[in-house]
Amino acid sequence: MAAKVDIGAAIPPATTPVSPAGPNDASFPGWVEEGPGDPSLLQLEPEHVISLAGKTAIVSGAARGIGAACAQAFAEHGAAVVLADILEEQCAETARRIAEATGVDTMAVRADVSDEEDCAALLDACTDRFGRCDILLNNAGIIVQGSILDATVEDFDRVLAVNLRGTFLLGRAVARHMVESGTRGTIINMSSTNAVVTIPDQLPYAASKGGVAQMTRAMAMALAPHDIRVNAIGPGTILTDMLKVVIANDEARRTILSRTPMGRIGDPSEVASVAVFLASRYASYLTGETIYPDGGRLSLNYTVPVREDDAGVPGSQ
Ligand SMILES: NC(=O)c1ccc[n+]([C@@H]2O[C@H](COP(=O)([O-])OP(=O)(O)OC[C@H]3O[C@@H](n4cnc5c(N)ncnc54)[C@H](O)[C@@H]3O)[C@@H](O)[C@H]2O)c1
Repeated sequence: MAAKVDIGAAIPPATTPVSPAGPNDASFPGWVEEGPGDPSLLQLEPEHVISLAGKTAIVSGAARGIGAACAQAFAEHGAAVVLADILEEQCAETARRIAEATGVDTMAVRADVSDEEDCAALLDACTDRFGRCDILLNNAGIIVQGSILDATVEDFDRVLAVNLRGTFLLGRAVARHMVESGTRGTIINMSSTNAVVTIPDQLPYAASKGGVAQMTRAMAMALAPHDIRVNAIGPGTILTDMLKVVIANDEARRTILSRTPMGRIGDPSEVASVAVFLASRYASYLTGETIYPDGGRLSLNYTVPVREDDAGVPGSQ
């Protein structure tokens, strides 16, 4: 029988999702209970461990927020990670922190995903250093407020340039590299619940994320014959720097929670765990899909009650 792996070493606690269901849940496939009631004695067979060892991942928009959490989760599962962002110093600092925490090789590259040359240079930097790119997470994204009545052309173009054109440019560069090098890789695009449902004053953002969802399907169809899988993640409301400002407003917070059956804002690690799954062999027959870590929002027709004292933020009570 194959040797068993200590779960603590295989999946470090930093990636443990806030939700109780996850790799530390004894119902997870592959758990072998060695002793009654003592979780430290639970062990995994190596073939059931999600490992990205030997893989190299590029993550755009990785300086902070969801991108940083995904870069960290990829590294914790053994992948070398190239972190790309326009925030050069913060990106370098995040890459340093992840390398220190995981012992995995990381690299930070300043790249604007809306710029074709930057995307080419980012891929070159990755292949020069690591010789390959197996995983791309197209995560960089921006929001600018504006409805059909007041959005400016400049704001519309800016959001589409980063969220949609950027996903296309970096996706195309990496897809071509994967096809030319015979890499059976995987591409993950960051969409949003706004690809399906929306609010009036985020028209450019909603249009861009709807485009990302559909581009994901078109990419998946073109790359399936090359054994390259393309999927998307469509988060609901996730606690990143951007969102902390929004939920500081009591009315906005209550509106968000009233549309979130699980009654809380999501944590970036809960998006990262989906990214790890999609990048892994556990998703080997999955392509052209969007997975929505949204606390149930897309299944909710109306609203749910919000408790007066509920901050809705994981760990705030
Ligand atoms: N936070 C949420 O609730 C939420 C929900 C659904 C989808 N998303 C999506 O998740 C992704 C990450 O969002 P976040 O909440 O972590 O936001 P964030 O603003 O914290 O992080 C986005 C990162 O992208 C970088 N970036 C912006 N423009 C760039 C460009 N042109 N080139 C390279 N990098 C660029 C930023 O510098 C930043 O580091 C986005 O695509 C966003 O649309 C977020």
